Amino acid sequence: MNAIELVRAIPKAELHIHIEGSLEPELIFSLAQRNGVALPYPSVQALREAYAFTDLQSFLDIYYAGASVLLHEADFFDMAWAYFQRAHADRVRHAELFFDPQTHTARGVPVGTVIAGLRRACERAQAELGISSELILCFLRHLSEEAAFATLEDALPYREHFIGVGLDSSEVGHPPSKFSRVFARCRELGLRIVAHAGEEGPPAYIWEALKDLKVERIDHGVRCLEDPALVAELARRRVPLTVCPLSNLKLCVVNDLRDHPMKRLLDAGLCATVNSDDPAYFGGYLNANFEQTVQALGLSRDDVIALARNSIEASFVSEARRVELLAELAAVAAA
Ligand code: ADE
Ligand code: ZN
Repeated sequence: MNAIELVRAIPKAELHIHIEGSLEPELIFSLAQRNGVALPYPSVQALREAYAFTDLQSFLDIYYAGASVLLHEADFFDMAWAYFQRAHADRVRHAELFFDPQTHTARGVPVGTVIAGLRRACERAQAELGISSELILCFLRHLSEEAAFATLEDALPYREHFIGVGLDSSEVGHPPSKFSRVFARCRELGLRIVAHAGEEGPPAYIWEALKDLKVERIDHGVRCLEDPALVAELARRRVPLTVCPLSNLKLCVVNDLRDHPMKRLLDAGLCATVNSDDPAYFGGYLNANFEQTVQALGLSRDDVIALARNSIEASFVSEARRVELLAELAAVAAA
C-alpha cells in the first residue's frame, strides 16, 4: 500500500469539523425551500461560485448566510447525518463536531432544538455506521463574553449532550483572553476546553489560549512556527494541533499547499492532526485533506500513520475506545 492507499484504509478521528460547514449547497437550497427561507443566490451554481474566499472573514460572511436555512430539529439532523455518511466513506471512526449555537439562537431557534437534531444524528451514526462522536459547543468570539455566558447558561439544561467548549469565528481583534472568565466557568463545570488560535492570529493568541483559557488542544495553531519558544512548549506538553490544510489553502493562510507547514509541524515533534474544518466550503472532506497534503508535501506512509495515531490520541474518547481504535490502526498499518 502506498501512502494514498493507506490514507483510504486506516481508521481516523476527525477533531475539527464545524457541522454548519458541512452544509453542501444542494442541501442549503433544499432546506431553504422546505423552510421558506429566501437566499441571496439564485441557484446552487451561483452559490458555489461565491466560494472564492480571500480570508477568514470573507468565508464567515457566506457561512453564516448558509446556516440561515436551519430552523427545525430535522434540519440539524439532516445536516449531521449527511456529514456522518461522508465521514464513514472516509473511514472516520470517531468525530468531534463543533456547533455554533449563537448563529441559531440569534434567529430564534432554541439551543435545545439544535442539540436534539445533532444528537439524534450522532446516535444513528453510532448504531448504523459504528462511528462514535461528541459535540463541542463553540462561542462566537466576535460577540461579547456576556453573550458567551448567556449561551452557556442556555445550554446547561443539555449539559450531558456536549463534551466541551471551543472558540471560533473572526480571530484577529478577538484574543482568547477576552473569554477568560467564561472558560474558567466551563472548566469548573468539567467541560473539555479547546480554542481556535493561530489560524490568522499571531502566536501570542496561542499563548493566551494555553495560559488564560487552559486549552487541551489548539484548533489550527499553524502560526506557532513563528515562535520557537511556543513550539517547544507545545511539544513538551504535547498539546495537539487540529490542522486543516484545505481550509488554510482556501482562506489564503497559505498560497500553495506545497507551502503548507504540516511537515514542519511533524518534524518539530508536535502532535498535529488532519481535519476538514468546513468541508462543504473548502473543497473536500477528511480523506481529500489527507490525500492532497500527502501529494503536495510528499508525506510518507509513516507520516500518514503518525497523523492518524495523533488524531486518536488527541481525541476525547474513553480509554477503552482509544485502545480499540489504536489496535484497528496498528492492524491496518501492519497489513
Ligand atoms: N467557523 C467555521 N470555520 C471557522 C474557521 N476556520 N475559523 C474560525 N471560525 C470558524
Ligand atoms: Zn475551524
